[in-house]
Amino acid sequence: MKEEELYRILEGKIQVLERREKSVEDRKTYDEVFDRNTLLAVYKLISSGVMETLDYPISTGKEGNVFCATKEDGSLLAVKIYRVSTSTYKNLTKYITGDPRFRNIPKDRRGIIYTWARKEYKNLSRMSAAKIAAPEPIKQINNVLVMQYLGSKEQPAPMLKDVLLDNPKKSYKSILNTIKNLYINAKLVHGDLSEYNVLVEDGKCFLIDVGQSVVLEHPLAQELLKRDVSNMARYFKKLGLDTDEEDMLRYIRGD
Ligand SMILES: Nc1ncnc2c1ncn2[C@@H]1O[C@H](COP(=O)(O)OP(=O)(O)O)[C@@H](O)[C@H]1O
Ligand SMILES: [Mg+2]
Repeated sequence: MKEEELYRILEGKIQVLERREKSVEDRKTYDEVFDRNTLLAVYKLISSGVMETLDYPISTGKEGNVFCATKEDGSLLAVKIYRVSTSTYKNLTKYITGDPRFRNIPKDRRGIIYTWARKEYKNLSRMSAAKIAAPEPIKQINNVLVMQYLGSKEQPAPMLKDVLLDNPKKSYKSILNTIKNLYINAKLVHGDLSEYNVLVEDGKCFLIDVGQSVVLEHPLAQELLKRDVSNMARYFKKLGLDTDEEDMLRYIRGD
């Protein structure tokens, strides 16, 4: 497809593309995120009816940006786009190597990043199958991952760190059960669990950001589980709860 044709079809469909001449912020986001292949992936998602428009950015992270998108029926989606140009992709391979789901791991930057997005999609699918509170995966093409949006029209669901919990003990128990469920039923360890990667919607805690999550047979699984548990223990201790990491680990592993 010719460059001009691609732009013509996407006209009015990608907010930062539309506004890049007017807003410095949008220009920056556009330049960092939307290389030709990413535009093509978004084009495929739009032309196949997965979404209608790609709207405002919700977040800019180390490896990717998260956008809000709208479906034809007006409902919202979350779209995570891993940046191919400016992401710290070298750290990613250690979470992929050793995972039996990924045998032929690409060596180049682009290939590794596409595999990473596919890994996050597969992890979300396993979580969905095990009925774990996390965004439902919808579609992944290359570095673009479409999932259920958490939050309202006005604002995305806040991170746990920004929420004043009504009942910290109840939230603690619920997160502990979620980690256990993840371990026992989805056979995964989150691997980057903290108050930054839990979103709270209507008082319910959802785990997000699962690209690095590993299967139990992965060589890093136990070490990552300990770190996840330690982060949660620290967070809830600050809120005045009595948290014991060893007890938590025993509970999660079911021994
Ligand atoms: N499904 C979602 N619904 C609403 N907001 C989301 C969703 N997924 C991510 N976000 C927002 O985007 C931010 C970054 O997403 P995350 O997956 O944690 O990526 P990063 O690797 O940048 O930390 C989150 O903190 C949250 O605010
Ligand atoms: Mg995160």
